[in-house]
Amino acid sequence: MSGLFITLEGPEGAGKSTNREYLAERLREQGIEVVLSREPGGTPLAERIRELLLAPSDEIMDSDTELLLVFAARAQHLAQVIRPALARGAVVLCDRFTDATYAYQGGGRGLSEARIAELERFVQGELRPHLTLVFDLPVEIGLSRAAARGRLDRFEQEGRAFFDAVRHTYLQRAQAAPARYRVLDAAQSLQAVQRAIDALLPEILERCRG
Ligand SMILES: Nc1ncnc2c1ncn2[C@@H]1O[C@H](COP(=O)(O)OP(=O)(O)OP(=O)(O)O)[C@@H](O)[C@H]1O
Ligand SMILES: [Mg+2]
Repeated sequence: MSGLFITLEGPEGAGKSTNREYLAERLREQGIEVVLSREPGGTPLAERIRELLLAPSDEIMDSDTELLLVFAARAQHLAQVIRPALARGAVVLCDRFTDATYAYQGGGRGLSEARIAELERFVQGELRPHLTLVFDLPVEIGLSRAAARGRLDRFEQEGRAFFDAVRHTYLQRAQAAPARYRVLDAAQSLQAVQRAIDALLPEILERCRG
């Protein structure tokens, strides 16, 4: 048996977490085992690394340190959660994964794509998501949804250019490999986004059963 690995990507406030719950419910009502997770994080140790990554700090975090922490958390998450779940045939719905590393550490921080790809191979081997939903929306809308939640984390404190680069990188990656990505217009109402997810369900269910 081999499960299905679906990742949800997009900037802060795009609706990844909200729609992850929605998709999980749709799949569970079909009797499918769904494992929900998120990155950075997903295990107690990886969640501690997440805290290091998100906490604002007086010491500037070197971009290479940030990249290595992201992949350190990912290695733990893969070993403890993702690989075992896929091995028993579950659907894993993960809020952010390596596309976020290309978008934030690559696009946002300016680290080279080749460097990220090297670590991707090292940590993941051949494992890639089977399907990636990109929740795309204008930068200002995402930031205002995130700001409405209160205190900003280390990434949310970045400026407009950073988030423009994040968005651009996601869209570029989706365009370069359309078989894996589905771009959803996350500026629409939540109801409209959920209708777009409903439209993807037959394809997802077929992959689960195939
Ligand atoms: N399409 C939408 N229209 C309006 N509001 C939305 C929409 N989708 C989500 N929201 C609201 O925006 C806020 C952020 O949504 P959510 O937490 O799902 O985003 P996220 O992508 O998980 O963000 P983060 O990356 O910061 O975790 C929530 O208050 C949610 O209810
Ligand atoms: Mg979220």
